[in-house]
Amino acid sequence: MEVVIVPDAAAAAEVAGQVLVDVLRAHTAPVLGLATGSSPLGVYRYVVASGVSLAHASAVLLDEYVGLPTGHPEAYRTFIRREFTDHTDLPEERLYGPDVWVAGPELPAACAAYDALLAKLGGVDVQLLGIGSDGHIAFNEPGSSLASRTRVKTLTGATRVDNARFFDGDLDAVPRHVVTQGLGTILEAQHLLLIATGAGKAEPIAAAVEGPLSAFCPASVLQLHPHATVVVDEAAAAGLQLADYYREAYQHKPAWQAL
Ligand code: GLP
Repeated sequence: MEVVIVPDAAAAAEVAGQVLVDVLRAHTAPVLGLATGSSPLGVYRYVVASGVSLAHASAVLLDEYVGLPTGHPEAYRTFIRREFTDHTDLPEERLYGPDVWVAGPELPAACAAYDALLAKLGGVDVQLLGIGSDGHIAFNEPGSSLASRTRVKTLTGATRVDNARFFDGDLDAVPRHVVTQGLGTILEAQHLLLIATGAGKAEPIAAAVEGPLSAFCPASVLQLHPHATVVVDEAAAAGLQLADYYREAYQHKPAWQAL
């Protein structure tokens, strides 16, 4: 795992954004894994501002709420279009997400179909990730199997409180159920790129990067991936014991070695 510590959120967005731009330029049919939440917003702005083309790309969502009407402003498909893909030349039909709009009993089949779709696309080239205050990635809450596949999950109370800000602070409006790529599914991406900024992320980042590999901190599963990059600002790096080493390693990174 490579930990990149930068001064602030703007620098973090730049570093992570450039990774996406490089993938988009290097591949003929790149597959981007997109995350929602506030952490990736600067990354999306950076990619849009770069002017790089997504005309031959596909984009896949990590997760989706269950129970919101199609087109709801906080449905993750709507969010990602508004915040990112509508500002690019990505063909609309190549934005994929789990189909949560089927009848309840059909959800498990829709989850399996989403895993099959990811495989059919040839896998994800780079998966952007945020981290929840309880250490979740996508919507894999604490206790999620490290080998899990795309499936229905129930959100913790803490995550619903965190996400109520997107629903005008109305906790009752935050769905209880979601469909999320599993941790095993996420591990299949070629490159995992996690971005976290602000003091509120210091604890989960320390647990994910330097704590034990444990379902209790789902983001610790990044420790199993051969190509995982964690981009943090100083505030989010505050709990890292080896911060000086990470800084030194990044400062002396060989010029030929990409992130
Ligand atoms: C939600 C999303 C996650 C995201 C997390 C953190 O739970 N499902 O993918 O990482 O929020 O959000 P934020 O970046 O706003 O802190």
